[in-house]
Amino acid sequence: MVDANNGALPMTVDCVLHNGKLYFEGTIIEGGLAIDGDRIVKIGREPNLPAAGERIDLNRCLVLPGLIDAHVHLRGQRLAYKEDFLSGTQAAVAGGFTTVLDMPNNEPVICSVDSVRKRVELAERKIVANVGFLSSFPHRTDEIADIVREGATAFKLYLSEQIGGVNIEDDDELLQAFTEVSRLNMPLAVHAEDAKMIKNRTNVEKAAGNNDVEAYCRAHPPEAEVKAARRVLQLAEKTKVRVHLCHVSSEETVALVNEAKKKGMDVSCEATPHHLMATSRLLTDLGAPALTDPPLREKKVMEALWGGVREKVIDLVASDHAPHSIREKTADSVWSVRPGVPGLETTLPLLLTKVNEGLLTVNDVVRLLAEKPAQIFGIQDAGFLSEGGMADITVVDLHRVGRIDVDRFHSKAEYSPFDGWKVKGLPVKVFVNGTLVLDKDEVVADEGIGRVLRSRKSLTK
Ligand code: DOR
Ligand code: ZN
Ligand code: ZN
Repeated sequence: MVDANNGALPMTVDCVLHNGKLYFEGTIIEGGLAIDGDRIVKIGREPNLPAAGERIDLNRCLVLPGLIDAHVHLRGQRLAYKEDFLSGTQAAVAGGFTTVLDMPNNEPVICSVDSVRKRVELAERKIVANVGFLSSFPHRTDEIADIVREGATAFKLYLSEQIGGVNIEDDDELLQAFTEVSRLNMPLAVHAEDAKMIKNRTNVEKAAGNNDVEAYCRAHPPEAEVKAARRVLQLAEKTKVRVHLCHVSSEETVALVNEAKKKGMDVSCEATPHHLMATSRLLTDLGAPALTDPPLREKKVMEALWGGVREKVIDLVASDHAPHSIREKTADSVWSVRPGVPGLETTLPLLLTKVNEGLLTVNDVVRLLAEKPAQIFGIQDAGFLSEGGMADITVVDLHRVGRIDVDRFHSKAEYSPFDGWKVKGLPVKVFVNGTLVLDKDEVVADEGIGRVLRSRKSLTK
């Protein structure tokens, strides 16, 4: 190890990856890297790499920092029939992600010290990728600091429905919670959709006997997002909390975020691959497998989101991997269908396809799926390749052609709005904490090799 040896390289390292193209400090260098234990100990051209117990030829594939999906529902516990820690993190590494951030709207809801502790304990034995856990607000604001100490990476607020503590209709309560999260300098992710508006519109549609996907879209209009986003940004301005808007899906929300950034607020936002790659037409064509919340939008929204990505108003892409059972996706009425699509195994191939089409660069992909998520969520030592850094590595073959096939998913979800789509660009090898976990199309990881991320203020480890 570098540290144990005063910075000197060991004579023989565990593993050398060679004949690759490395994304290093913003440019591509031809060469490889050396891994010893869980660290990268050398990055360089072939002659400068040390002797190794194992040498892996990368066949000139692209070596990226381990990718991070900042919005994933791993489920487990009472929702393990939809996904569990093992299947969810297997899906992550199969899709090229070495780290995922898990959402707290589970059963039980994660919104207390005990529930975070229990979830971490269960996950630690199973995960094959690194996982950070988000917590919803607890019932008492003074528990927020304890939840941080327990290891939560960030907080998550749903304005679309009451999940966890703090009454979402009460600005004073929200202000108090925002103030505490801000004091602790923790990030706050928000599902911004106005609960009352959704509820009223849903009741109107139901009363009229409407039960198709178009009715669902009318009940979840862009205005519901804009209204909630405005409210959140106002609260964030007052409290100076670091706020992150999840899955933005309207032109106006992008404009609001842009304005807030220009004012100097610490605000960020994400777009999902489904909102970037598909419109409500796909929802009309496919029905339930493409039903998500917020729903797919019109073409002009999709174009505005691409504008947001280009202008860097949209900071990152996150899958919002939200798996459900087939039974939950096949109800007669749209009001009984669970919204959510699995995205861990489709996000990277879809984005790499855009690179091949010339709509994104490799630098964009690294920014959107590694650098920005690491920065915004304070994931230390992640998002870039470095000597002495953790050996979390995603190797991709930009030229490999494939087809999205739900039958080959590692996720328990057996559907996808992208099923059958042709893609160009696939992950071929993934290393998590120095261990090879994806080799070609096979997940080769032992259960439990992933780490639980702890916030910097965590006192538990
Ligand atoms: O489509 C969605 N699915 N939107 C959400 O906000 C929740 C998620 C889920 O957990 O299934
Ligand atoms: Zn959401
Ligand atoms: Zn979500």
